Amino acid sequence: MSQCHNLRSGMILLKNHLSHEDQVKIIRTCQKLGIGIGGFYQPSYSDGAKLHLQMMCLGKNWDPEAKYVDIRPVDGAKPPEIPEVFQKLVKGAIQASHDFLLHQNKHINAEDELPNMSPDLCIINFYNENGRLGLHQDRDESPQSIAKGLPVVSFSVGNSAEFLYGVERDVDKAEKVVLESGDVLIFGGKSRMIFHGVSTIQANTTPKLLIEETNLRPGRLNLTFRQY
Ligand code: SIN
Ligand code: MN
Repeated sequence: MSQCHNLRSGMILLKNHLSHEDQVKIIRTCQKLGIGIGGFYQPSYSDGAKLHLQMMCLGKNWDPEAKYVDIRPVDGAKPPEIPEVFQKLVKGAIQASHDFLLHQNKHINAEDELPNMSPDLCIINFYNENGRLGLHQDRDESPQSIAKGLPVVSFSVGNSAEFLYGVERDVDKAEKVVLESGDVLIFGGKSRMIFHGVSTIQANTTPKLLIEETNLRPGRLNLTFRQY
């Protein structure tokens, strides 16, 4: 079993949960989808300010202005479906979190702490070594999804990132955790509305074998699965 950390109620970090083979599959799938219709682009706000990352979506499109729509406004593309292999990995990660919670305390109902979810959308971010993402809440999913605390399941592949999280939108008060290639972070239940962001991408931290096998360029892929 990979190492698990209960960061706070409803927020679990599964260290090194994704195998090397899974990470290769994730990168290759994103490389393929990323240059197809609905692939990577750099989103911006209506005032022209750009996000410091490349993005694409699966299932449903999200962007910082239009929020969730079926067709993305920037080019009219319909996002690709979530591949079956990703669905399986998400299921496995939620199961591993429940197993861990029950291992810690067999008297609890793990689903009360971290509800189950079946993803119908995924936001894929690619950060180059200067990439970042300011503190924010994920609050554009349906009111029911948020009220139930359905978790966001986040896969990290490639360079490590310094990830910030906290109950306030305040960088100085935020907790820090390094997310490395293969880590899965899940936040739902009482942590569903946690503020979070990426302060830095750590240069030259992608495992060498992963670069050799996939030709991934310097940077970090992050996939966040959600149920609308
Ligand atoms: C996000 O909050 O949408 C992405 C977080 C991450 O890159 O780890
Ligand atoms: Mn987010």
